[in-house]
Amino acid sequence: MISVRDLTKRYGRTTAVAGLTFDLRPGVVTGFLGPNGAGKSTTMRMILGLDAPTSGSVTIHGKPYRDLPAPIHEVGALLDAKAVHGARTARTHLRWIARAGGVPRTRVDEVLDIVGLTSVANARIATFSLGMHQRLGIATALLGDPPVLLLDEPVNGLDPEGVHWLRTLLRDLAAEGRAVLVSSHLMNEMAETAEHVLVIGRGELIADLPIDEFTQRGARGHVRVVAPRLAELSTVLKHAGGAVTRRPEGALEVIGLDAARIGDLALEYRIGLHELTPVHAGLEAAFLELTRGSVQYRAHRGER
Ligand SMILES: Nc1ncnc2c1ncn2[C@@H]1O[C@H](COP(=O)(O)OP(=O)(O)OP(=O)(O)O)[C@@H](O)[C@H]1O
Ligand SMILES: [Mg+2]
Repeated sequence: MISVRDLTKRYGRTTAVAGLTFDLRPGVVTGFLGPNGAGKSTTMRMILGLDAPTSGSVTIHGKPYRDLPAPIHEVGALLDAKAVHGARTARTHLRWIARAGGVPRTRVDEVLDIVGLTSVANARIATFSLGMHQRLGIATALLGDPPVLLLDEPVNGLDPEGVHWLRTLLRDLAAEGRAVLVSSHLMNEMAETAEHVLVIGRGELIADLPIDEFTQRGARGHVRVVAPRLAELSTVLKHAGGAVTRRPEGALEVIGLDAARIGDLALEYRIGLHELTPVHAGLEAAFLELTRGSVQYRAHRGER
């Protein structure tokens, strides 16, 4: 569907995208993750032909975007939800895009309905909140009913109901066989939405894998243990090869031994357990671990 090959973009001395290669899969939501400035938006712009690559290539169904005979029916995109004319109404905005792309007028009301903007279809866009802009942008992307969707941070500005709605919508669109690429730096949100992740840092590909594998590979989980004879248990676990940290609240965090092994050891040494909880690292931790070396804009504590 979308094939990115050795894609590179330099702006003067800044390398925004450095030799990216990936394929976008149909039928799944792919999360496009990376810290601020990682090159997510630049990559999306190059896919859409809005920016010329310094080297490398991007094709959609085997062709560069500009050679697509009916782009609105092939790729739907939301890059910047605010880049719309505020004096137009939602309906007139969608109508001119539909007209330009040869999309029937009736589709406009359909997409307004899908994104929940029917009641404000005749309101001027200037009066819209950020979340309403996002919804309008998604409506625009859906106009041509395309098999590929590229959405740059669509969750930004949505309320919790909106986040839930978008998550369901994206999953449904993917289930119909579409390829959906969604960028975000909200890792936990992505964990709920995406089945596959592409992680980039400083323009380079860091990971291209199913989300489960990503969470497992990125950071190890630990087991939290509470027991009345904590010091004794700690010694036993260390002997068995666990890395044990004592938490101030009176629990142990154990890495390297799973919950079953810890439970068996406690039984063997007749040490009572009050809590034995596997704690999974989660996507947030995996992301931080993977992109640690590639975060460009970091807050420096204690510096002014
Ligand atoms: N038009 C431009 N001119 C010069 N530099 C640019 C331009 N566009 C992007 N860059 C630089 O390219 C790098 C990647 O930017 P990009 O916007 O693609 O990152 P991003 O992953 O989308 O970040 P964010 O999460 O903040 O949206 C940054 O260092 C940015 O400053
Ligand atoms: Mg961006």
